[in-house]
Amino acid sequence: MIEIAPSILSADFARLAEQVQPVLDAGATVLHVDVMDGHFVPNITIGPPVVAALRKHVPQIPFDVHLMIEKPDDYIPAFVDAGASWISVHQEACVHLHRVVEHIRSRGALAGVVINPATPVDTLTDILDTLDYVLVMSVNPGFGGQKFIPHSVAKIRHLAHLRAERHLSFRIEVDGGIALDTIGAVVQAGADILVAGNAVFGRGDSGHNFQQLLQAARSATLQKA
Ligand code: DX5
Ligand code: ZN
Repeated sequence: MIEIAPSILSADFARLAEQVQPVLDAGATVLHVDVMDGHFVPNITIGPPVVAALRKHVPQIPFDVHLMIEKPDDYIPAFVDAGASWISVHQEACVHLHRVVEHIRSRGALAGVVINPATPVDTLTDILDTLDYVLVMSVNPGFGGQKFIPHSVAKIRHLAHLRAERHLSFRIEVDGGIALDTIGAVVQAGADILVAGNAVFGRGDSGHNFQQLLQAARSATLQKA
């Protein structure tokens, strides 16, 4: 199933519950939550208390929590307790990546690993069978509204090829610069979960923006078949 994951990074943090309502009404099936610590990336966003506060208002759909932090292993329990359903950690932030993935799963969340634009897909080949999803960064993490890096399409295609070749079932997520002009290429390359911040919450009616992106993603899937 193809899904658009609206990223709340581009929403108004002072009015989060109110801001996500239009995308929920438009049929959003997952929300993307960007956690930044000012060390792993040069920006600071939100932590478990904010996730827990939003969870009270949004009990029904998964929160896809993208940890752009150092020592992510230390914070997994706090994010699960706050209501995270999927947790992804950066390959670049984990010395013992396999252990961290096992930790996420042991807490009952789906486990994903994220690779930065400069990190090759092949760094994950030995753990692909343990992952629920792989997140390909199509911008350097830290900020919303950046320009899509075209080489990400080749990385998605490579992952989709490995998935088919090895009969694996991990999903492929892409994050950064996803909008109406880039969505077709990433879907055709094999991405299933498309994070969109600026293209959803940046301007206009977020519910309408969400629906347009979903429609574009679905029509690219049909072209692929
Ligand atoms: C960037 C974050 C993204 C961000 C994407 O570091 O991981 O999730 O919200 O924003 P857009 O869609 O605006 O590129
Ligand atoms: Zn993200």
